[in-house]
Amino acid sequence: MRENRKIKLRSAKPEDSFDLWRWKNDPVTRLSAIATPKRIPWKTHQRWFLESLKDRSRKIYMAVWQGHRIGMIRFDDPEKDWVELSININPVFRKQGFGTGLLKTACRLLGRKCPGCLQKAVIKTGNLASERLFASAGFKKVHTVSKPGYAIWIRR
Ligand SMILES: CC(C)(COP(=O)(O)OP(=O)(O)OC[C@H]1O[C@@H](n2cnc3c(N)ncnc32)[C@H](O)[C@@H]1OP(=O)(O)O)[C@@H](O)C(=O)NCCC(=O)NCCS
Repeated sequence: MRENRKIKLRSAKPEDSFDLWRWKNDPVTRLSAIATPKRIPWKTHQRWFLESLKDRSRKIYMAVWQGHRIGMIRFDDPEKDWVELSININPVFRKQGFGTGLLKTACRLLGRKCPGCLQKAVIKTGNLASERLFASAGFKKVHTVSKPGYAIWIRR
């Protein structure tokens, strides 16, 4: 049963970098990205990732199911009263309910780590998988972001 899958979240480690880079450069992921649709070079990613591991306002988790790295989730909280979530499922494990399980697990964790924080996601219009995913976890679309083609989704 999908609902009973035990997805574990652990802090990302330097040795996760290569997998995260590969998933980040998956064509579907690039199309959904806010920063750029272009491929991210390894050196750029590695610099960003190693800096991110030291950044106290950012937390990256690796999601593991039965020993497989099935995806990642990132929390960014520069404003402290809200947390921005960003999720990427290992392309091999997409469309099998892992995104739903991971996001629900992550929201529960966030609820404990940051009670009362506004949870936020920026989603590209037309990214149906992501819209359905966040809607099923209780997020609501609020308004279009300054960058055309993207919308903010929130959950309290
Ligand atoms: C968005 C993403 C995280 C979804 O993960 P997933 O494991 O494939 O999602 P699930 O299998 O749990 O499905 C979630 C919902 O999306 C739907 N869905 C999944 N893939 C879909 C697709 N390609 N097109 C339309 N709907 C899709 C599922 O049917 C399900 O909807 P339902 O609950 O109404 O049945 C994954 O596709 C991904 O990593 N995409 C690239 C990165 C990205 O877009 N991140 C989001 C920006 S924050």
